Amino acid sequence: MAQFQSLPGFREFYPDALARRNHIFRLWRQTANTFGFQEYDAPVLEPLELYKTKSGDEIEAQLFSFTDKGGREVALRPEMTPTVCRLVGEKANSLKRPIKWFSIAEFYRYERMQKGRGRCFFQLNADIFGEPGVEAETELIAMLVQCFAGFGLTAEDFYVRLSDRNLWFYYLEALGLDEVRVRGMLSAVDRFEKLGDDAFKDYVTQFGALDEGVKAKVLAFLQIKSLAALETAVSGIPGDKLTARLADWRKLLGNLAAMGLGGFVEVDFGVVRGLAYYTGFVFEAFDRKGELRALAGGGRYDSLVGKLGYGEMPAVGFGVGDMTFALLLEQRGLTPAFVPTTDIYVVIGGEAERAAAFGDIFALRAAGFRVDYPLKDLAFGKQFKVAAESGAKLALIYGGDELAKGVVKIRVLGDRSEHEVPRDQVAAAVRDFFSGGAE
Ligand code: HAM
Repeated sequence: MAQFQSLPGFREFYPDALARRNHIFRLWRQTANTFGFQEYDAPVLEPLELYKTKSGDEIEAQLFSFTDKGGREVALRPEMTPTVCRLVGEKANSLKRPIKWFSIAEFYRYERMQKGRGRCFFQLNADIFGEPGVEAETELIAMLVQCFAGFGLTAEDFYVRLSDRNLWFYYLEALGLDEVRVRGMLSAVDRFEKLGDDAFKDYVTQFGALDEGVKAKVLAFLQIKSLAALETAVSGIPGDKLTARLADWRKLLGNLAAMGLGGFVEVDFGVVRGLAYYTGFVFEAFDRKGELRALAGGGRYDSLVGKLGYGEMPAVGFGVGDMTFALLLEQRGLTPAFVPTTDIYVVIGGEAERAAAFGDIFALRAAGFRVDYPLKDLAFGKQFKVAAESGAKLALIYGGDELAKGVVKIRVLGDRSEHEVPRDQVAAAVRDFFSGGAE
């Protein structure tokens, strides 16, 4: 075995794997552009403080952190949200609202390794700042759906579970829980799907006991799967906040239905999100078969920009990871085949013909064609074999006989048809072929 292996959970991308990754990023970027989002980027290494208490205990425990040579406590970014809040907070006054931004970047979390989870992964993050209304959630959930649908995935493959930390808060307060207990309870709800009854253990340890009546009500609320069930569940609780919140729900679901996305979205109060900063609507995307970990997660976080020391700024966004997403594409047979990267292969007779070929090769590449050729002299037969394997559509043949006549032979590799063109017309003939013209 060789001496050095990559670290556990860190990935290497050989060209075919990178081609698949690039394909995903290309379509995500295209979707973000069609939704009017602008791309940004930011540092990989950040002050440790940026994530302490802001992101929540789970992420804090997973940080890759160290002290740099200048004595600073630093961490590799585990997520983009605190960073993008800083970017927006710094320039809040000069940015036009609503601020619709996206990025595709790599993140690092020291996680337990499992299918679809690594220690470094990519996320597409999309966020809207400056819009307090459900119009922002509408836009983001629609974009999340299109990030998947753009690959041919349908409502039978994935769905978005939509929930609301506000309503959870109002409901738990109405049950008599104070703010600390509400937070403790939400963290139990977050883990209930994975742990069942054990999810309440920490709550009992922290607060001494859990009233059976309260627990039953929490479990019932967790089961809510429709707007009608939600309305019934809160109908006995008085308060304007609640009425206004139900109106938000109707508007958001109505907007999504009007976009034709009703089939992708399900009300589900089992989702509350583990990250500390979410304040309102929260959502997560899952595969329908329930075989994979979460595909994406997001929600509203109206107080994070303020908590970082800037003026208050409403915000909502999501992150979709590349790992579970690639697994889903694979399961559905939607992974693209490795795309060959050559248009034209230049077959060269020998050293004497090389100089003539070089001029044309350079000109064709400058014109945007993907051109390859043998770096060293090779037998004709071998060159045609390489040409076929490269995925090229055309072979240009620079043989001694052809050049003596002042021509280059063009072979269409698909049907092996051949014809000769005068040397000064090679570029025009190639252009015609690739634009579906004369050839
Ligand atoms: P998150 O739920 O921690 O949210 O991550 C979002 C997505 O990133 C997950 O659904 C998953 O696809 C992917 N992901 C997370 N951790 C890993 C891992 N260890 N390995 C592979 N994939 C992973 C956030 O990060 C929020 N900052 C998203 C957000 C943006 N909220 C508002 N704006």
